[in-house]
Order: sequence, then C-alpha cells, then structure tokens
Amino acid sequence: MRIDILTIFPEMFESPFGHSIVKRAQNKGIVEIFIHNIRDYSTTKNKNVDDYAFGGGAGMVMMIEPIALCIEKLKSERAYNEIIYMSPDGELLNQAMANHISTFENIIILCGHYKGIDERIREAYITKEISIGDYVLSGGELAAAVLCDSIIRIIPGVLNDETSALSDSFQNNLLSPPVYTRPANYKEMKVPEILLSGNDKEIQKWKMQKALERTALRRPNLMSEEQ
Ligand code: ADE
Repeated sequence: MRIDILTIFPEMFESPFGHSIVKRAQNKGIVEIFIHNIRDYSTTKNKNVDDYAFGGGAGMVMMIEPIALCIEKLKSERAYNEIIYMSPDGELLNQAMANHISTFENIIILCGHYKGIDERIREAYITKEISIGDYVLSGGELAAAVLCDSIIRIIPGVLNDETSALSDSFQNNLLSPPVYTRPANYKEMKVPEILLSGNDKEIQKWKMQKALERTALRRPNLMSEEQ
C-alpha cells in the first residue's frame, strides 16, 4: 500500500511513523508513506499556503492552488482509490472503515489547518472525509496518524501473529477480554485460576464470556451496531 500525506507540518509525522508497528510495516516494504509539504507547491513569493476568508470571519483558509498542484501531480503518476480529507465534518472512523481502507492500493490523505481548506478542493478532489471523533483538533495531522496506524496494523504480514489483529477489540463488535501476565500472584492480586488451568476450551469460553460482559457494561451500543 502507498500512502501520500499532504501537510504543512511534515515533522509531525516523524515520531508516529518512526516506531513500532508502522515503522516495521515500512521496513518490510508492506507500506510506503510519502509526506508532501504543501508549502513546496506554493507559487507565491513568500510561499504562502493560507489567506483571509472571503466574506470575512475569524481564521485563515488554506489556499486552493498549492493543494491542487500537489494532488494533480500525484494523480498524474498513479491512480488513487481514495483522496481523503481529515475533518471533524467527516464520517466517523471505526474498525469497519479501517478494515476497508486497509485493502486499498494507493491513498492520499490531506491534512487541513486554520479554519479549513478552500471548499473548491473538497468539491474537485476529495472523495472521502474522515473524522476521528466529535472534537476539534488543531489540524488534521494527528488524525491522519491515527487513521494510518489503524489501517497499517491490519494489513496482512504487518503483525507477526496473523491472528492478533483479528482478536482486537471491535473486530467482532466486542471489546477485548482482560489479559494478564506473570506473576500469577502480585501482592495477593491473583490472575483468574482458569487462565492457569491449561484447559484451552474452557479458557476460550471464559474469554468470550468476559468480552461479552465488558461490552455489555461499557459499550452496549456495539452489540447492536452493524460494522
Ligand atoms: N481535524 C481537526 N479535527 C479533526 C477530527 N476530529 N478528525 C479528523 N480531522 C480533524
């Protein structure tokens, strides 16, 4: 999979993409991530990327031209499954959406800032808008990093244990059961006996029971949602 990210803060991606599973996926060649600085596509003398909003109002708006030039260049080089704009106005990200996007070959992710991007970008180029929650971030970068992490970790071959992404919370509309590791007894706080029993059938039954209990208690809405 190839991911092209358009941003005015390229450095914001160094840490989220430089560690752990996302780094491993890139090292294995399963995913390629290209960060494009929108400012590089500005044609103004001062390399501006934003301007005042027509009609007034507080806040600057990201200009159409630098973003359009960058997207046009990328589109002339390959076909994209989706051109995504990270925005609180978008469709809420969930596991089903992450699963779907993880099957794509090429995607562009545009990160906005200030009061947003010139509406004509959305009309002419954006094929999908995604929100990571009902709150407003300072920009789309953190949201884009969240989206990338959620899709990259489930691409086959990224995780060593192929089953581990499938047993994540949400993959079956259930939260994960509790997990424990050594020691089995820490200051009289004991790991449930069943997990030490070696009886795999009973252990699986226990895990399912706990997942159901936890979901019913904390996120009952998941149990009735179509994913
Ligand atoms: N940009 C600013 N806030 C956002 C959010 N909640 N989700 C996605 N992109 C955003």
